[in-house]
Amino acid sequence: MTRTKKTVPVALITGGAKRIGKAIAIRLANRGYAIALHYHSSKAEASATARRIRQRQGHCELFCCDLSDPAAVCSLIKSVLKTFSRLDILINNASVFKPGPLKDARVSELDRSYAIHLRAPYILMQEFASLQKRGQIINILDTKISQNAVTHVPYLLFKKALADLTRLAAVELAPAFRVNGVCPGPILAPEGKISDYLKNAARTVPLQKSGSPEDICDAVEMLIDHNYMTGQLLFEDGGAHLL
Ligand SMILES: NC(=O)c1ccc[n+]([C@@H]2O[C@H](COP(=O)([O-])OP(=O)(O)OC[C@H]3O[C@@H](n4cnc5c(N)ncnc54)[C@H](OP(=O)(O)O)[C@@H]3O)[C@@H](O)[C@H]2O)c1
Repeated sequence: MTRTKKTVPVALITGGAKRIGKAIAIRLANRGYAIALHYHSSKAEASATARRIRQRQGHCELFCCDLSDPAAVCSLIKSVLKTFSRLDILINNASVFKPGPLKDARVSELDRSYAIHLRAPYILMQEFASLQKRGQIINILDTKISQNAVTHVPYLLFKKALADLTRLAAVELAPAFRVNGVCPGPILAPEGKISDYLKNAARTVPLQKSGSPEDICDAVEMLIDHNYMTGQLLFEDGGAHLL
């Protein structure tokens, strides 16, 4: 059980064990947030991230949850509140980036993408808004929501839906909650992809380079700091959404 004071703000990051989620967790811990770090299968990486945060005198507790299980998702916010007594920021970052055009992607993949990219964030936002008086929600989307590339149809379909949910929630949950999105361009190659993946992706971006997890953290911090912003989708993508 954590020993944070009730005055310390708390951030929950889904899929925070590694990659972009880990960078966001470390950045927010450095800003003084106690971190509720959600993970599913990456227990060792989650523990290593928590250790790193604690080594710098930060607070971090781990929460394991399969986001494809709606009952488990329903209890995640309550578990965080039981541990920390408050929640200030929810970052819906977890994702499954599986290729598949409409003709090839199985219905089971459509169901999985719906569960991770839309249903879980929906439930978490709903629980957060009903159990806390105020807060902020940041949904991590994708620059591709502005286009119709058909390489990852189940993924993109529900990222687009989450972008719409971001704006709907910004209206419904105001003034107590601000709800925004970050739309990354090419940041990290999918796990297991060859090293040229990012180089090739960078060539298709106006700024001719890929971004870094730190760039996404900058966007998250900007949204946190801008008190009059809600319903924004911030494209951190080297201009990719303009094409
Ligand atoms: N990487 C990029 O260049 C890029 C580009 C555009 C948009 N984005 C967006 O940025 C965000 C972070 O990207 P990323 O590449 O760092 O993400 P990622 O590595 O693909 O996934 C992040 C985490 O999602 C969690 N996750 C997957 N299925 C889950 C499930 N059933 N239950 C619970 N957690 C689950 C995994 O946690 P465990 O490992 O613990 O299982 C995983 O580590 C995502 O929303 C992604 O769509 C990324």
